[in-house]
Amino acid sequence: MPEIQILPSILAADIGHLADGCRRAAAAGADQLHVDVMDGVFVPNISFGPDVVKMARAEVDIPLDVHLMVIEPQYHVEAFAEAGSDTILIHIEAKCDVEQVLADIRGLGCRAGITLNPETPAESIFQCLENRLVDEVLCMSVHPGFGGQQYLQYVEEKIVQIRRKAEWVDISIDGGINGETAQTAAAHGVNMFVAGSYLFKQADMKGEISNLRKSAGDNFCKAV
Ligand code: DX5
Ligand code: ZN
Repeated sequence: MPEIQILPSILAADIGHLADGCRRAAAAGADQLHVDVMDGVFVPNISFGPDVVKMARAEVDIPLDVHLMVIEPQYHVEAFAEAGSDTILIHIEAKCDVEQVLADIRGLGCRAGITLNPETPAESIFQCLENRLVDEVLCMSVHPGFGGQQYLQYVEEKIVQIRRKAEWVDISIDGGINGETAQTAAAHGVNMFVAGSYLFKQADMKGEISNLRKSAGDNFCKAV
């Protein structure tokens, strides 16, 4: 069974104290940190670059899960690997030779991940799964670009298809995750939970991370 993991997204941390946000999440028992990279083309917003990954790498020991919402990731994977990423996720909708870029990411010593926008069908990544080109499949449960959006429940149908296809793969979910949505996502096969605004607004982040981990574990794959 893939391990249940909780990944605070530092997009929701106080930007003026980003290093503190990274340390706070790690001290609260986060399994990994999720870092959102947005280029202003693939998504309407612009966020972090490799220097933020480098900063996070210097601040915490837990793995960094780096989500590239970038139209042409092939030009950037090397910089993000050198900055200290552990996993680099590209989008299936990106303008690149996806299989080649996934192989390049592994060649750089990182875990490779593929991300699907809410409307993108599960079948679009089946070949990546059949060829074992990915370690993590990230299902967007909001339209990427901004934190604090509402969870799109319809993606759960697609997650079940992916989980049935690959019981070995890490399936992560990103967007609108809170105590309730984490539980239903877990039931549909998710084992890694990215949460931004929900976790960073908690007075007791540590307590909430363990609540999420426990309720996800108790419900994992119940609806698969
Ligand atoms: C959205 C980002 C998410 C975001 C999630 O484009 O990929 O990682 O930080 O934020 P919340 O948890 O606030 O929906
Ligand atoms: Zn993300």
